[in-house]
Amino acid sequence: MSSKRVNKYFILSTYVFALMRMTTSQDVYVFDDTSGLGRTFDGIGALSGGGATSKLLPGYPEQQRNEILDYLFKPNFGAALQILKVEIGGGSQSGIGSEATHIYYDGDENYERGYEWWIMVEAKKRNPDIKLYGLPWVMSGWVGNGTSKSPYTYPDRTATYIVKWILAAKKYYNLTIDYIGEWNEQQYDAKYLKILRKALDNAGLQNVRIVAADDYQGELVVDLGNDLFLDTELATAIDIFGVHYTSTSSTIDQILSGKKLWASEDYSTINTLLGGRCWARILNQNYVNGLMTSTIAWNLIASYYQGMPYDRCGLMTAYSPWSGYYSVDTPIWMSAHTTQFTKIGWKYLSRQTGVGHLKHGGSYVALTSPDRKDLTIIIETMAYNASQCLHEVLTKYDVHKQNLTLKLTGSFRYIDSLFVWYSQIGDETQKANLVLFESLKPLQVVNGTVKLTVDVNQIYTLTTVSGGSKGKHPDPPVSKPFPLPYVDTFEDVPYHQEPYFLSPMAGSFEVVLGKNGKRVIRQMTVLPPVDWCETENFSLALVGNISWHDIFVETSFSLDVPYAAKGVFVAVRVNSGGCYTAGGEGIFFHIFPGDGQYQIYNDAKRSMLLGFGPISGLNASGWNRIAMVIKDYFATAYINGQLLFGIRVPLLPDHGFVGLGTSGFGHADFDYICVMSSDDGSKYQTCKYM
Ligand SMILES: *[C@@H]1O[C@H](CO)[C@@H](O)[C@H](O)[C@H]1NC(C)=O
Ligand SMILES: *[C@@H]1O[C@H](CO)[C@@H](O)[C@H](O)[C@H]1NC(C)=O
Ligand SMILES: *[C@@H]1O[C@H](CO)[C@@H](O)[C@H](O)[C@H]1NC(C)=O
Ligand SMILES: *[C@@H]1O[C@H](CO)[C@@H](O)[C@H](O)[C@H]1NC(C)=O
Ligand SMILES: *[C@@H]1O[C@H](CO)[C@@H](O)[C@H](O)[C@H]1NC(C)=O
Ligand SMILES: *[C@@H]1O[C@H](CO)[C@@H](O)[C@H](O)[C@H]1NC(C)=O
Ligand SMILES: *[C@@H]1O[C@H](CO)[C@@H](O)[C@H](O)[C@H]1NC(C)=O
Ligand SMILES: *[C@@H]1O[C@H](CO)[C@@H](O)[C@H](O)[C@H]1NC(C)=O
Repeated sequence: MSSKRVNKYFILSTYVFALMRMTTSQDVYVFDDTSGLGRTFDGIGALSGGGATSKLLPGYPEQQRNEILDYLFKPNFGAALQILKVEIGGGSQSGIGSEATHIYYDGDENYERGYEWWIMVEAKKRNPDIKLYGLPWVMSGWVGNGTSKSPYTYPDRTATYIVKWILAAKKYYNLTIDYIGEWNEQQYDAKYLKILRKALDNAGLQNVRIVAADDYQGELVVDLGNDLFLDTELATAIDIFGVHYTSTSSTIDQILSGKKLWASEDYSTINTLLGGRCWARILNQNYVNGLMTSTIAWNLIASYYQGMPYDRCGLMTAYSPWSGYYSVDTPIWMSAHTTQFTKIGWKYLSRQTGVGHLKHGGSYVALTSPDRKDLTIIIETMAYNASQCLHEVLTKYDVHKQNLTLKLTGSFRYIDSLFVWYSQIGDETQKANLVLFESLKPLQVVNGTVKLTVDVNQIYTLTTVSGGSKGKHPDPPVSKPFPLPYVDTFEDVPYHQEPYFLSPMAGSFEVVLGKNGKRVIRQMTVLPPVDWCETENFSLALVGNISWHDIFVETSFSLDVPYAAKGVFVAVRVNSGGCYTAGGEGIFFHIFPGDGQYQIYNDAKRSMLLGFGPISGLNASGWNRIAMVIKDYFATAYINGQLLFGIRVPLLPDHGFVGLGTSGFGHADFDYICVMSSDDGSKYQTCKYM
């Protein structure tokens, strides 16, 4: 009824506007619940992992770490996230880095590894209502029974692996996992999904809802949509249709499936003003265009080394733990516009009576509480050229300054004033024109009507909900370069945790008690993993600065461990990480004690051999120090402080990270890592800081 009135008004107003250009236009938008509401809101969230995106966060000083967690999770403070999705680590590369797994091989099982448990605990501490969602990328070779085969080859094993993780969340951390996914951006498997559902039910996890198929840009959803119609058991097993990067739209199949629709991974955009605008637009338009009731950002926090792929594609940035510096970026405040004034379980209003596009560009959504007493309206007017998300296909559109008349009827007719929260994200060139989540004077509702003028690149929240606030901690310390010399003996790291600054790219590293009675890091991956990125055939952890040209690195290793690797290496000028790790170049000094040989390579995969020779000076029974110093285009290597060789190296790569790892999978222990200037290295031939 009221929607017809709006349409008439639209036509009339266009007509009048065309006739008399001087006439002021008033576009009327009705907010009404009398003919029903839209879908149930499931929350705005973000993803830690996929992979290792929160890597550097645990290494922050406690104060800054807590501040960062407040900006992400604390209600009425910052992003106030309503869902936290995490990676179920697989002990190998899953995007930006590698995350630990809870089972490396038969007989191994441990729930103290990695940082995702900790992040979930910290999120729950701040917001007990936050929902938790787990999803694997790469999976431990254990699920493939050591064969690296698809996780659907042994579906019961894979289901067991997932169920164990969920049960452990409760047992060790009192965490309830609300949602579980299948296999990130890979073909789904109907048989496995049914087996997973049964395994969850049998373990008393009936309340854990399955999200499928977490596929990229809807590549597989057509099939899943069909399968859901044809297969009732499958349809019962799945609760949520989760899709990634669909440019705010859903297909007819998805909508007709009757399942909840989620943008279960989205955003993926640099968190400059551009990222803020992208996020503001899709948070509204994923519902307006695609009826998606949850949007989850990849990623939660850009807490990985600069030089990795997807630089700063997080809601905020924390890539400098040694200095304590972090930045609270625009997407944090764009999240707040929705999260601080809604709750999971609220409902969107219907299209045309509370949800839609603005006549002169932009969009609006409205949500109401179950008792319909509270109403939150979010309006965004992000410009086309400045709000495109990274993986998005965006059709050109125009946005203009416009006058809005909002009419509140139905249950909302008694509302007499609305709190106002406002942001203006101007062009990159107009930083002065930047307002982030400021509270304005409340708007009075006169005769059920509110008038508002909106301009380009703005976001407004009009709400009956009080208590919103723009949280502020003291400014963090200034950013500093990675400190040199850098010596890490890992003695301050809890057992089973990763070294703080070493960032695993292949394989996985955790602190264990070494045979020398000290804390050492052990490379943990022994079975070839069920890969998500390109298969690697080695382990590698990076540290430092991708700009390093001349540098010295030393470690002390032991292969006197069960499931020992054949060899270990140190590396310099490693120029590639993330899913591009296997294609990375650098100078890699491998040592194979069993073969009595060293080899030096120009690449991570060991396809470009630069030299080799016999080892001397090795203590076969114990720990051995290996070191390499590079200065311009000459590299020198040492064993236990004794010169092993010097070699001219190629001009490329010219600079990169320092690294260590194992040649092939298998355990190896590293007692420390020392990185210092190449001048000191050339002079002392061993780490003078040890
Ligand atoms: C909005 O309203 C103001 C005054 O009420 C008027 O001056 C202005 O032209 C209007 N803008 C548009 C785009 O109609
Ligand atoms: C797993 O591997 C072991 C030995 O490698 C083999 O004995 C066993 O049959 C395999 N299990 C399955 C389910 O194939
Ligand atoms: C576990 O969490 C629930 C809330 O989810 C809480 O009520 C309960 O007190 C917690 N139990 C312990 C032992 O902390
Ligand atoms: C967007 O387009 C407007 C007008 O066409 C231009 O002034 C502005 O600089 C553009 N902004 C960006 C970020 O490209
Ligand atoms: C409210 O609406 C009534 C009836 O449409 C009208 O008579 C009255 O003048 C309006 N009041 C204001 C303040 O606009
Ligand atoms: C890396 O090194 C470059 C060049 O020396 C420097 O400008 C930059 O600040 C360093 N960054 C970090 C994170 O150390
Ligand atoms: C791993 O590397 C070794 C040594 O280069 C090679 O023999 C082996 O075939 C490789 N395995 C895989 C799975 O690439
Ligand atoms: C070799 O290592 C063993 C075990 O750590 C140690 O006892 C021995 O002294 C070492 N020998 C030399 C020559 O360093």
